[in-house]
Amino acid sequence: MIAVVIGTRPEIIKTAPLVKEAQRRGEAVVIIHTGQHYDEKLDALFFEELKLPKPAINLHVGSHPPAQQIAAMVLGLSEAFQQLQPTVVVVQGDTNTVLAGALTAHKMGIKLAHLEAGLRSDDWGMPEEANRVVADALSDILFCPTDVQTERLAQEGIRKGVHVVGNPIVDAVQMFRQEAANNPSIENNYGQYVLLTMHRPSNVDEKERLEAMMATFDALGSKLNQKIIFPVHPRTSAKLKETGLDCRYADSPNLSLISPIGYLPMLNLMDKASIILTDSGGIQEEANILQVPCVTLRANTERPETLDAGGNSLYNGTDPEVLYQIVKQMMAKPRDWACPFGDGRTSERCLDILKANGLL
Ligand code: UD1
Ligand code: UDP
Repeated sequence: MIAVVIGTRPEIIKTAPLVKEAQRRGEAVVIIHTGQHYDEKLDALFFEELKLPKPAINLHVGSHPPAQQIAAMVLGLSEAFQQLQPTVVVVQGDTNTVLAGALTAHKMGIKLAHLEAGLRSDDWGMPEEANRVVADALSDILFCPTDVQTERLAQEGIRKGVHVVGNPIVDAVQMFRQEAANNPSIENNYGQYVLLTMHRPSNVDEKERLEAMMATFDALGSKLNQKIIFPVHPRTSAKLKETGLDCRYADSPNLSLISPIGYLPMLNLMDKASIILTDSGGIQEEANILQVPCVTLRANTERPETLDAGGNSLYNGTDPEVLYQIVKQMMAKPRDWACPFGDGRTSERCLDILKANGLL
C-alpha cells in the first residue's frame, strides 16, 4: 500500500494526479493528512474540487511553533504507519509535513519516496530549505523534476534511487485546466488584471517589509492602470490584520484583497492574468506552464528552470518604479517559452518506478 502524506494546499494539488492514477491502476493508496492546513479554503475545498478520496487518517495537528508542530506530526504519523503498514510512504515538496513524514518513515524502516526532490534555494533562512535537504538525505526513491536536481543531488553525494520524472504540477494543470475553463469564474469580473500571491515569512512576517510591499503593489496597480487581485493566504491575512494594513487597503482602487480560492478558479485567474507576482513555489511553475509572465518576489528561487526559460524574473525590492519597469519588460516578452517541467505524465512514471522497485 502507498501512503501519501500531505498537510498543506500545494501538497493536496501536487499529489492529486498520483493518487488518481494509482486508483485508476487499482493500486492500494491512502492519504494521510497531518492537518498542517485546516481552513476549509486551504483544505476540504480541494478534496471536493479535485474529487479526491478522503484522508484515511487526519492527525489534525494544526498550527504550532515549528518544532512542536513537527513533533506532533511524527508522533501521529508513527501511529498511522503502525496501523496501516504501508510498503512505501510518498511525500511531496518541502513543508514541515514532508520533514515529519520523511523522519517517521525512515525511523520505522519504511521505504520513502520524495516527489520534487533535489530543489535547493541555498537560503537557510527559509524554513523549507532544511526540510528539503533532510527529506532527500533520507529518501530511498528521489523523483526529480529536471536534470538540475539530479546534478545538485550528485554534488551532495546522492546518486542512488534518483529519477527525472518531471513535475506533477504539469499533470495537475493538464488534468484540471479544461474543467476550470468550462466553469464560470471570477476572473470575468476584473477586465485586465495582475494576479498577486504572497505568503513567505520573509515577505509578510515583519511589519516594515509587509507595509513596504503593500505600498509598492498599490503604486504598481495605479501605474499600470490595472487592478491587482490578491487572494490572501491565512498567514498573510493574520499579519495584515495585526498591522491594520487590511483596513488601509480595503478601499484601494488598485488592490483587491480576496479570500483564498479553489484550484479551478485559480487556474482561470492565472491563465487570464496580464502578469503574476508571487513568492509561491507552485505558482512560479504554473505561470511558466500557462505561459503567463511572472515576477517572483524573492532574492532567489529553487526553480531556476523558470528563469532560464525566460518566463520568470526575480525582484526582492520594494521600489515601485523598478518593479514597474520589470513588469513592463516581462509583459512585453513573447509568451513562447518552453515548459521545462515535463509532459504531464510524471505520476505515471512515479508509479512505474515504484512498481519496478517492488514497492507496489
Ligand atoms: C506552509 C509551508 C510552506 C508552503 C505553504 C503553502 C512550512 C514550513 N511552510 O506555510 O512551505 O509554501 O504552507 O501554503 O511547512 N493558518 C491558518 N489556517 C490554516 C493554516 C495556517 O490560519 O489552515 C495560519 C496560522 O496562523 C499559521 C500560519 O497560517 O500559524 C502559518 O501556517 P503554516 O502551516 O505554519 O505555514 P504556511 O505559511 O502556511
Ligand atoms: N492556489 C489556489 N488558490 C489560491 C492560491 C493558490 O488554488 O488562492 C494554488 C496554486 O495555484 C498552486 C498552489 O495553490 O497550485 C500553491 O500553493 P501555495 O502558494 O500556498 O504554496 P507553495 O507552492 O508556495 O508551497
